[in-house]
Amino acid sequence: MSFEGKTLVLSGGTKGIGKAIIYEFAKAGCNIAFTYNSNADEAKSIEFDLIKEYGIKVKNYPLDILEPENYKELFSKIDEDFASVNYFISNAIISGRPVVGGFAPFMRLKPKGLNNIYTATVLAFVVGAQEAAKRMEKIGGGSIVALSSTGNLVHTENYAGHGSSKAALETIVKYAALELADKKIRVNALSGGPIETDALRKFPNFDKLKQDVISRTPLGRMGQPEDLAGIAKFLCSEESYWITGQTIIADGGSSFT
Ligand SMILES: NC(=O)c1ccc[n+]([C@@H]2O[C@H](COP(=O)([O-])OP(=O)(O)OC[C@H]3O[C@@H](n4cnc5c(N)ncnc54)[C@H](OP(=O)(O)O)[C@@H]3O)[C@@H](O)[C@H]2O)c1
Repeated sequence: MSFEGKTLVLSGGTKGIGKAIIYEFAKAGCNIAFTYNSNADEAKSIEFDLIKEYGIKVKNYPLDILEPENYKELFSKIDEDFASVNYFISNAIISGRPVVGGFAPFMRLKPKGLNNIYTATVLAFVVGAQEAAKRMEKIGGGSIVALSSTGNLVHTENYAGHGSSKAALETIVKYAALELADKKIRVNALSGGPIETDALRKFPNFDKLKQDVISRTPLGRMGQPEDLAGIAKFLCSEESYWITGQTIIADGGSSFT
């Protein structure tokens, strides 16, 4: 299927997995509406680069997923700038101060940090996917993908807050998939094992963590953002038209070791 003339809306496109995904879609001729939070300059420079390199329509928008209702205003702006919304990828994730008390060993977990992670992971997905689905319904269908992680399957240090929210995300994806199927809107989760991005580089003892990940990954290296980008595109393409309500795991085999 051609992505030309279609539009992807993605949260968190300034770096890591989100950035790799928007480049993958741009290469296929897809128009891109993506969001940033703190890196406005990087967002502008990515927009400029994608337009120059691929001759597609690209726009960046600010978004704070700690205020999920902001998605309503975001999609209204996107309506003014793009003819359709064909794909929505919920990718952005919080780090730093907002995850204090949420990114911690079990005995140091605090409700506020845990709530922030749940809000950014699950509630932001819900409002973003609802707004996307309203637009997709009008054009006869679309595809929604939520980024998840194998931290809900494999114990990962300090990751109880994120892992439990990703488990909830994968469940809500199934509900959305069933309830949107009659509108030809597919909803899936794409779950990665550890991927070398800023989010992971901020982990304490990152170098040791990286060595551990490599040693327990049958494919013998750490995951890179590009390892997920092609799968995200596949999940939006017609080649995956019979897949909905699933979590696709891409982890180099590490969750079975
Ligand atoms: N890294 C991994 O090991 C891994 C593995 C599996 C799944 N995942 C999932 O993949 C997704 C992307 O992870 P990543 O590692 O690529 O993250 P990352 O490199 O830290 O990038 C995070 C993105 O989210 C944006 N963001 C940060 N705070 C935000 C906020 N309050 N509101 C809106 N946007 C915000 C950032 O924008 P600014 O730069 O503008 O602030 C950035 O674009 C996440 O859902 C993550 O859970 C990650």
